[in-house]
Amino acid sequence: MVKITQSTICQGFPTRIGSPSRANNVLNELIIKPLNEDDVGAIQVFECDEKELTDWLKTDALRDQALMISRTFLVKHPKNGALGYFSLLNDSIRLDPELKGKWKRREIEYSSLPALKIGRLATHKNHIKKGIGKAMLANILKETLKNITPRSGCRYITVDSLPNAIGWYKKLDFEELKTKTKRKLSVPMYFDLERIAQVAS
Ligand SMILES: CC(C)(COP(=O)(O)OP(=O)(O)OC[C@H]1O[C@@H](n2cnc3c(N)ncnc32)[C@H](O)[C@@H]1OP(=O)(O)O)[C@@H](O)C(=O)NCCC(=O)NCCS
Repeated sequence: MVKITQSTICQGFPTRIGSPSRANNVLNELIIKPLNEDDVGAIQVFECDEKELTDWLKTDALRDQALMISRTFLVKHPKNGALGYFSLLNDSIRLDPELKGKWKRREIEYSSLPALKIGRLATHKNHIKKGIGKAMLANILKETLKNITPRSGCRYITVDSLPNAIGWYKKLDFEELKTKTKRKLSVPMYFDLERIAQVAS
């Protein structure tokens, strides 16, 4: 299991991605940047293994950003263009019986808590299994603890995972939320930021 430790988080930060444990030239040259109009060319040639995620980046990401619905970040390589992206938005997690039980043991009885949602996350299909996805997640965790939690309550990172990515998220310490969901194609999952809040501070 890959643990999100301080060293894992640092692999994705600051904006330049470098992974000393993997001798991989591509990884060392990547940067993570906010999506803007200058990236239109780069996103048109992006392709991942899920068509819906490829299409959304090309047609909806900039629009949703302008509408303040989500913010998108690109992983870019100076020669190979966009190798990955993720989008983020605010969320609220409805606690399942297991999470409710955990909070109740601390004598806290909320039914939902604040979260940050990974709306979409994908690696270019020619560059999967090189650590890019892990670096994106590390970036999300570190930036959340640095810029969001000091200003606003945010306890969990949430995602509606596509079936093929459930194992990947579990490997990175996400857990399945056991609430009934109407969406059958995706599985709601969460990561508890308290796990790393102490390490990262
Ligand atoms: C899921 C996805 C984002 C993973 O990205 P990636 O860049 O290949 O991930 P990484 O290289 O950082 O993987 C980290 C580790 O997880 C493993 N891994 C990769 N995909 C996996 C999967 N589907 N299930 C289980 N483990 C997986 C890698 O082998 C690697 O293991 P290691 O650290 O022991 O070497 C990518 O496959 C993808 O874009 N899929 C299509 C879009 C998608 O499904 N997105 C998620 C929907 S929310």
